[in-house]
Amino acid sequence: MRPASVSDYRELARRRLPKMFFEYIDGGSYAEVTLRRNVEDLEAIALRQLVMRDMTSLDMSVTVAGQKLAMPVALAPVGMAGMYARRGEVQASLAATEAGIPFCLSTVGVCSIEEVAAKGGTPPWFQLYMLKDRGYMRELLQRAKSAGCPVLVFTVDLPVPGARYRDTRSGFTGSSGLSGLANTAWQGATHPAWSWDLFAGGQPHTLGSVQGAVQGGRKVTDFLSWIARNFDRSVTWADMDFVREVWDGPIIIKGVLDPEDARDAVRAGAQGLIVSNHGGRQLDGVKSSISALPRIVDVVGDDLEVLMDGGVRSGLDVLKALSLGAKACLVGRPWAWALGAGGQPMVSRMLGTLKSELATAMTLTGCTRASEASNRLLDATP
Ligand SMILES: Cc1cc2nc3c(=O)[nH]c(=O)nc-3n(C[C@H](O)[C@H](O)[C@H](O)COP(=O)(O)O)c2cc1C
Repeated sequence: MRPASVSDYRELARRRLPKMFFEYIDGGSYAEVTLRRNVEDLEAIALRQLVMRDMTSLDMSVTVAGQKLAMPVALAPVGMAGMYARRGEVQASLAATEAGIPFCLSTVGVCSIEEVAAKGGTPPWFQLYMLKDRGYMRELLQRAKSAGCPVLVFTVDLPVPGARYRDTRSGFTGSSGLSGLANTAWQGATHPAWSWDLFAGGQPHTLGSVQGAVQGGRKVTDFLSWIARNFDRSVTWADMDFVREVWDGPIIIKGVLDPEDARDAVRAGAQGLIVSNHGGRQLDGVKSSISALPRIVDVVGDDLEVLMDGGVRSGLDVLKALSLGAKACLVGRPWAWALGAGGQPMVSRMLGTLKSELATAMTLTGCTRASEASNRLLDATP
């Protein structure tokens, strides 16, 4: 199949990846109510059709954290991308660089900060969770700085991981040591293209950036249990003082869904925030990101840059989010699916699709500048 829409990359990834990795990307927490809401609430928004305007030139660029983006999209941090394709984070970063947009490297990437900065075209934005070991956090932030990462994305919605039942069923969660490896090997035998790509030269399969902290850890499962032990439930906004003291560049807080928290993010000195429910992977039953967005923009939109993620599946969705006040959107699953479907070329192709969809949506709504999109482009707000 030649992929046309984002859903096609999902289907290609489903065919190519071992079931446990596909389910890990695709799934949400508990009954996946919020995961569905993210997509459905965006679908339900109606754009206005405005015709007969001179639309010969479109400006899709926006500026976020002082950086000019060729289009209002960034690749969201997605853990373990190097298990979906060989050195996956480097491949995705190259595709993002080529498209003129940021790639955000997850704390739990297979490729390290240094590898992505050196081989991914341009230093990535770096995403970090609050870890119990503050000394190690300090070290990671200093490494990100030395590698030239321009932006810190600080994820706040994961003091404890939400349960993802698909991962239990597939054997992803709970598998450890030999049984985990046996499972992986079996899936490799039944998915030869993935297996060849990953195991013939795609190693090591560790969590590159945090590898040094996990004593004796060589398997992905060792790292996952280290991460689980290191999530910090005690964290409060006051801990942002520590983060700001170590990181003097722009900070974007990721995982805010409530205006009350958005106000705290301003007080904490963030330059931006990402309205996000972690792609429906944390607290199931919370509202969709797109329905949370307008109120947050009302409350803090003058004080910091508001981005959003969750459920964006087309360039049309990007324009809807911009119309409701987002400066830009991040996409998670779309790039992870494209990477699993065929590495960098597929991620590039998917980004090309988002771009041409956005161009069409802007042209038919009479929007010449992405940075000026407003709810004038919408028939009704959700
Ligand atoms: C497979 C997967 C892994 C993720 N890993 C991380 C992560 O390591 N750090 C983080 O802040 N968010 C992580 N997220 C959340 C994404 O950054 C983003 O918020 C979410 O995917 C957006 O929703 P979408 O997938 O509908 O675009 C992950 C999401 C997925 C699907």
